[in-house]
Amino acid sequence: MDIKIISGEITKLETGAVVLGMFEGGKALGHELGILNRKLGRVISTALENEEIKGKAGEINIYNSLGRIPAKYVAVVGLGKKEDFKLDNLRAALAECCRALRQKKVSDITVLTKFRVGGRRFSAQDYAQVVTEGAVLGLYAFRKYFTKENDFTEAKKLTLLAPKAELVSEIKKGSAKGKIIADAVCMARDMINEPANYLTPAVMAEIGRKIAADNNLEITVLEREDMQELGMGALLGVALGSVQPPKMIIINYKGRKSNEIDLALVGKGITFDTGGISLKTATGMEEMKSDMSGGASVLAAISAIAQLKLKTNVTAVVPTVENMPDGAAIRPSDVLKALTGKTIEIISTDAEGRLILADALGHINNSKPKAIVDVATLTGACVVALGKQCTGVMGNNQSLVDKIIESGVTTGEAIWQLPLFEDYRENIKSDVADIKNAGSKGAGTITAALFLSEFVGDTPWAHLDIAGTAFTDAKKKYNVKGGTGVPVRTLVDLAAKMSAK
Ligand code: BES
Ligand code: MN
Ligand code: ZN
Repeated sequence: MDIKIISGEITKLETGAVVLGMFEGGKALGHELGILNRKLGRVISTALENEEIKGKAGEINIYNSLGRIPAKYVAVVGLGKKEDFKLDNLRAALAECCRALRQKKVSDITVLTKFRVGGRRFSAQDYAQVVTEGAVLGLYAFRKYFTKENDFTEAKKLTLLAPKAELVSEIKKGSAKGKIIADAVCMARDMINEPANYLTPAVMAEIGRKIAADNNLEITVLEREDMQELGMGALLGVALGSVQPPKMIIINYKGRKSNEIDLALVGKGITFDTGGISLKTATGMEEMKSDMSGGASVLAAISAIAQLKLKTNVTAVVPTVENMPDGAAIRPSDVLKALTGKTIEIISTDAEGRLILADALGHINNSKPKAIVDVATLTGACVVALGKQCTGVMGNNQSLVDKIIESGVTTGEAIWQLPLFEDYRENIKSDVADIKNAGSKGAGTITAALFLSEFVGDTPWAHLDIAGTAFTDAKKKYNVKGGTGVPVRTLVDLAAKMSAK
């Protein structure tokens, strides 16, 4: 989508639709809406008087201009009560509105980038970022495997209208940032939505190479032989059931002069999770093409971090493997030896994510990063505990966990902490090895995190369980059915927080 920033008269714009925001409870229309209202024969003020429109969050009203202005439609989006306003409401409202306009075959949308929230200050730059993110994320569609174009209008042009010429450069800055971030989220979504027969570990490594080449980043891809040499027995165990060779993608971004890694982002990259010999049930198994969402999100995040030129050193690590049942596959009762030397008894071959992460965490921890954050569609238990709208976070360092939660608040990605109670470590004690890969007494999300904690030593570390949030079956706010790209925006915000000013 092409994005342009302009200033000029709202009544003279040649565009498919002009979009304006409206708060709930306001009696008078804002300046620009007032002008359009008069041009359109007072249709908006009449609707307001008749209480047909109220400005409630999620409300969208689209008026045909009947040729009275060059813009074909005027869209009014409800932003809710001013006192409840959050930037994420604007992101969501814009997304829904852009989709409604697409339904009307509008491919060229102009948004008045001005929303006066009394008392609280949001900059034009913030608004421009959020408007851009809302439009790009809301209009996302994964259509590459349709062979005939059924009735679909692609949105081609987004224009942000600055309320005054002096704000154009600030709006340009915010929008450019929003575009980088939203494009990264869409890149993660594309990987997640890609079926597993196309997105194999080898293809994921190719995508990593492309991201590295596009952004001038250093990349290493560990092959099976490299992993054998390093002793990555846990990851290699999971890989035994698949004909697809495993890969470990490592990308370095240097935003400041030092060889230290400020932040290591580690993402689970299971390209398909059948459960292995501990086979999953058939219903819904197709969703397990999304079991590489963590990996996709850290690749996308490092690409955005590089484009934003954040002043921090970030490394992305993606262990990527396919989990299949096979004559050569690992079985429950097998014992694997991880890179750190720890031995693991396999209770369930379906608890494979923690096995590949164990070796990725152990490997990157040898480079002594200042902090590690891993992201994984790790446990069904997290979906039970927190549902589909909230990511779980756990860690060995409260200040890191707090920073992540705070970044989630900033970006509108809900994150909730679960406790890493030491008492639960008993649940992953094994009778035959150092630990086992699955507990049986509840708290499945916590025991999975405790398992991971065994491989990071004393390094400040946090773990994000995105099993509920990575993939959605509903079109809602700025998400559409399929991969969501959670938590790319949080990771980018976290890296920005860690950047030198
Ligand atoms: N990839 C799944 C977790 C998952 C479930 C993600 C639902 C998204 C939606 C993971 O590999 C898994 O199978 N976990 C098991 C662990 C158990 C065997 C200890 C689970 O949650 O059932
Ligand atoms: Mn599994
Ligand atoms: Zn899995």
